[in-house]
Amino acid sequence: MAQGFHDQEFGEGTQIKLDVFRRYLHAWLPVFMRKSSVNIFDLFCGPGTDKEGNPGSPIIILEEVKACCQNIGGLNAQRPIRLFFSDKNAANIQNLEREVQKARCAQGCCQIDIASRDFASALAMHLPKMREKNAANLVIMDQFGVSDVTPKEVRQLAGCNRTDILFFIPSSHVLRFRNAPSFKSKIDISEQNIQYNTIHRHICRYFEEQLGDVQFYLSPFSIKDGKDIHGIIFGSGHLLGLEKFLRVCWDCDPSTGEANYAIDKDPAWGRRDEFIPGLDNLRKEDAFVEQLKGFIATAYPNNLDMYRFVLTKGYTPTKAGELLRVLQKNGLMEVVSLGGEKNPRAGAFYLRHNAVASIRFKMRTMDVV
Ligand SMILES: C[S@@+](CC[C@H](N)C(=O)[O-])C[C@H]1O[C@@H](n2cnc3c(N)ncnc32)[C@H](O)[C@@H]1O
Repeated sequence: MAQGFHDQEFGEGTQIKLDVFRRYLHAWLPVFMRKSSVNIFDLFCGPGTDKEGNPGSPIIILEEVKACCQNIGGLNAQRPIRLFFSDKNAANIQNLEREVQKARCAQGCCQIDIASRDFASALAMHLPKMREKNAANLVIMDQFGVSDVTPKEVRQLAGCNRTDILFFIPSSHVLRFRNAPSFKSKIDISEQNIQYNTIHRHICRYFEEQLGDVQFYLSPFSIKDGKDIHGIIFGSGHLLGLEKFLRVCWDCDPSTGEANYAIDKDPAWGRRDEFIPGLDNLRKEDAFVEQLKGFIATAYPNNLDMYRFVLTKGYTPTKAGELLRVLQKNGLMEVVSLGGEKNPRAGAFYLRHNAVASIRFKMRTMDVV
């Protein structure tokens, strides 16, 4: 995979990965560009383009920053944007310097640091900046293999202030070589029973377990590329970050919000607009509805508890709202007011990061005749 990666046109899987990076940047930038300093780190940045001139991650970052800056009416000098691009290959960096000159805007307000650096030394150098209180950080780690971004690095990043991460894992490769000592010392899934199709989901859970009690939300997006399965793992300490990433995933995959293929082998995947008798259910959705019912029955959650629950199960508030509305309409679930309104509006569930706790969800007990 590594050989000549940028000497050919980016393949479909790479384009999907870059599209997810772009969409997340597009959602993330406006949240912070208005009110804080922003640092974006692309620590495996490559030369900037593929052989055909298609933009790679650093040029996508420049394009998105430029577009956001135009939308909000320019940068505030008090709140600089700092971009850090590094790659261990010096020829890539030389090329990137030229590409950045072509792509950056004429104003030149962003501070751009481009350097030939190995990931480990780049991370060690940047960690103090990421721990500063007043900046928001986005770290993109588009590695080739698995030797660089391990649970140790993710834990370090999770401990930083306002830091979201996106990293790439060649997951089926990990599965194939999971018993090799060099792999096992980085990601040890050798003892586990794993389905090929869901390998990337599985690896994301492994990273989650390795975080222990550090509160940092991880979420996977799986990408099938030929026979291989790769993927992105997103991480954030904030539910709003997770919500924004999940919105990107559900835009890319309206069936399960998680992959560019039928990850649970559902025949109905990607065909929700057609009615095919017997083929209209999605396993993930069925399982989620059962989880919702169980959660409501045992936790008697308010809307903030529900917001956290749906996001950590990989659902957006919009998608979960549709399913909750069906439960409510079918008389299986009701919503009670926590004061204020006596009868909360049907179908309104207030699943937002900045909402106040105003309702509780309750399963209805069926009358016994
Ligand atoms: C998949 S490519 C990155 C592609 C880039 N994000 C893009 O969109 O074009 C991986 C890059 O990581 C670089 N690389 C490999 N090992 C590295 C390491 N240990 N530290 C820093 N860069 C490394 C390679 O030179 C290569 O450019």
